[in-house]
Amino acid sequence: MNILAVESSCDETAVAIVRDGREVLTDCIASQVDLHRIYGGVVPEIASRKHIEAIYGLADQALAQTGLTRADLDAVAVTYAPGLIGAVLVGVNFAKAAALAMNKPLIPVHHIRGHIAANYLAYPDLEPPFLCLVVSGGHTMIVEVEDYTKMEILGTTLDDAAGECFDKVGRVLGMPYPGGAALDRAAQQGDETKYTLPRSKPGENPYNMSFSGLKTAALNLIHHAEQVGEELDIPSLCAAFTAAVSDTLVPRVVMALEQTGHKKIAVAGGVAANSRIRADILAAAQKLGAQVYMPPLSLCGDNGAMIGAQAYYEYLAGNLADMSLNAYATKSILGETL
Ligand code: KG4
Ligand code: ZN
Repeated sequence: MNILAVESSCDETAVAIVRDGREVLTDCIASQVDLHRIYGGVVPEIASRKHIEAIYGLADQALAQTGLTRADLDAVAVTYAPGLIGAVLVGVNFAKAAALAMNKPLIPVHHIRGHIAANYLAYPDLEPPFLCLVVSGGHTMIVEVEDYTKMEILGTTLDDAAGECFDKVGRVLGMPYPGGAALDRAAQQGDETKYTLPRSKPGENPYNMSFSGLKTAALNLIHHAEQVGEELDIPSLCAAFTAAVSDTLVPRVVMALEQTGHKKIAVAGGVAANSRIRADILAAAQKLGAQVYMPPLSLCGDNGAMIGAQAYYEYLAGNLADMSLNAYATKSILGETL
């Protein structure tokens, strides 16, 4: 089954064609990152306009690259939530029009389910059940993937997402948007013991996390150094910050593996590209004898292929939409409107 998959929830316009949920025939992406960089973050109105400009050309490109025709496509899938509402709407309207014009089924896909499904592309043998640490620009949670379309959230951030904090701290340190990758590179040259930053403490639900205290502590440290004219050791601050994020995530993942008895842990989302977090998850999981699944960096960030992968399983589960499909800025991974 060939699925044409569309993703436009933030600042990447992406159209992919994925076969049977596992094989990427093409994955076309037009990134807007350079445009938003001068503003230090995504400008929603600009994102929507650029999606409109790019999306038709990307779909044509996807067909041209694979040599497929419209008749070879079996369904159209699209990210319908969550994301910047104007941006998600562009993809949803394009996908609705394409499905209607070609008379193909329309498959709505939750963006975070798509991130998790990036693992199915990287690991053809991976099947649920497994645990997944989702760490992106907007979400941070530990998910129990019971089946392809059946999930439980064990814990989630109570405030900021990890990626948001990477970007904010990166911005204040003068790194280009989005700051995560640059901060990761800088951290590799630093000494994490030079600065002390707080770790979020387990609350009522020990799987839940908090990052706003860490973000504020890092920003205060930077501003204080500026005020008193103290020169910051930026790589070491980046290393201390990344260590604090990892120390928040990894023990909860370990606890989840131990308490649920799962022997498979996957990571997903843009922050899953972080070298320190990858290394720490790998080391912790190895100690427990658990198998680790980490998509290559190209599949960690937003892309269309991951939407096409999850779409296949949504289709098999009968989760289809009609022309009344709407876009949602927020929606739980379980499908509830927030
Ligand atoms: O999943 P994603 O592409 O978009 C959302 O769905 O939010 O994640 C983007 C986030 C950004 O915050 C970006 O800074 C972060 O992923 N990121 C990283 C790294 N690469 C991307 N954060 C830490 N280390 C990295 N190497
Ligand atoms: Zn994403």
